[in-house]
Amino acid sequence: MEAVLIKHLGSHQGREVLIRGWLYNKRSSGKIIFLIIRDGTGLAQGVVVKKETGEEIFATARDLTQESSLELRGVAREEPRAPGGFEIQVTGLEVIQVAQPYPVSLKEHGVDFLAEHRHLWIRTPRQSAILRIRSELEIACRIFFQERDFILADAPIITPAACEGTTNLFEIDYHGEKAYLSQSGQLYNEATAMALGRVYCFGPTFRAEKSKTRRHLMEFWMVEAEAAFLEFEDNMKIQEDLVSYLVQRVLENNKKDLETLERDTASLARVLPPFPRISYSEAVELLNSNGVDFAWGNDFGAPDENIISQSFELPVFIHRFPTEIKAFYMKPDPANPDVVLGADLLAPEGYGEIIGGGQRIENLELLRERLAHHKLPEETFQWYLDLRRYGGVPHSGFGLGLERLLAWITGIDHVREAIPFPRLLYRICP
Ligand code: 4AD
Ligand code: MG
Repeated sequence: MEAVLIKHLGSHQGREVLIRGWLYNKRSSGKIIFLIIRDGTGLAQGVVVKKETGEEIFATARDLTQESSLELRGVAREEPRAPGGFEIQVTGLEVIQVAQPYPVSLKEHGVDFLAEHRHLWIRTPRQSAILRIRSELEIACRIFFQERDFILADAPIITPAACEGTTNLFEIDYHGEKAYLSQSGQLYNEATAMALGRVYCFGPTFRAEKSKTRRHLMEFWMVEAEAAFLEFEDNMKIQEDLVSYLVQRVLENNKKDLETLERDTASLARVLPPFPRISYSEAVELLNSNGVDFAWGNDFGAPDENIISQSFELPVFIHRFPTEIKAFYMKPDPANPDVVLGADLLAPEGYGEIIGGGQRIENLELLRERLAHHKLPEETFQWYLDLRRYGGVPHSGFGLGLERLLAWITGIDHVREAIPFPRLLYRICP
């Protein structure tokens, strides 16, 4: 008999099924034992009635420990009161392994304990729900770009130079030479965009962040798009289309998971384009009018971003940041070179910046100047300068941080729950 996934029990009502999984919880009332089984797709309740199964199966069920692995047979039926909404009238029970006393009980645990037991913590319903939504988001990103004629062009992870500033680079020894873990695939995207027109890459990126905040990971996944002939405004258009597509897909395909997470979905349902756009200067005014002493030219900290995003129901673009505080590749606004044609997208509800992007400098001489201004070694960027020597065109792109997006969509407190195994400032294990 072929095993059925718990999520598919609905189409097996009234029939005998076999499910395989782990014992999540157990209740008993005298001659009946309720086994709550999880299999990664959901929860179902196995009902073991002594006078129907006989003494032996009943005793096996009674002695089962949390997280024991097992196979269970019986007739499936809908039962709204059962966890997961389905019940299986047990006729057969095969134990695969009786689990040792399980450290992660169903009670509350401290953050450090859970982090230490991340390999087990991910089995709990909330964590599994988050990871399922993460999977949906990753697939949905790929579908979005595929449908819009973007070609997937993977960027390298080991790189010879910095993309996003030199202060948070992870250095590695590359056969006796210095190399770095990639902070962003952008520079390579620019090259592949000149080859393929519209591209994206999606992979892990690395930042040796000294900050211990709820938004920072040392290793995070970024989906980055780049397109030739794409200018600043149209770049934002793609971003708002992408973000709303992703949110709407999760609402559609992860209803149960959002329920498990007790996420307010009304605010997510409103996430449709267009998103509001304000300039950096307008954002500074907004802060000042909220009593924040913030001077033009500084970068926003998390508290500033929160105040700004609280003024909007939707994600909000902040565009035209001061040239001085942004990366070397950002194109100065022809109408005012003190600011760049770059924009950050801030998520609502205090989740901070989820996208950074903008138009790139296509002029060779200006780019060389900006490299020098940022004290970056021109030799290692020769290949990048070549993109301006051989058919340079206006082009733009952006990078969306998967864990921050996921943290917002799931409504969790910290990005450490938005990736299977987070790399944090003081934790690399498990
Ligand atoms: O704003 P950032 O630094 O932009 C870039 O790297 C560009 N080169 C992308 C591009 O244009 N192709 O990073 C982009 C996004 C941020 O908005 C944020 O969502 C996420 O990456 N991010 C982090 N997420 C988790 N932990 C960190 N330490 C992060 N640093 C950035
Ligand atoms: Mg940024």
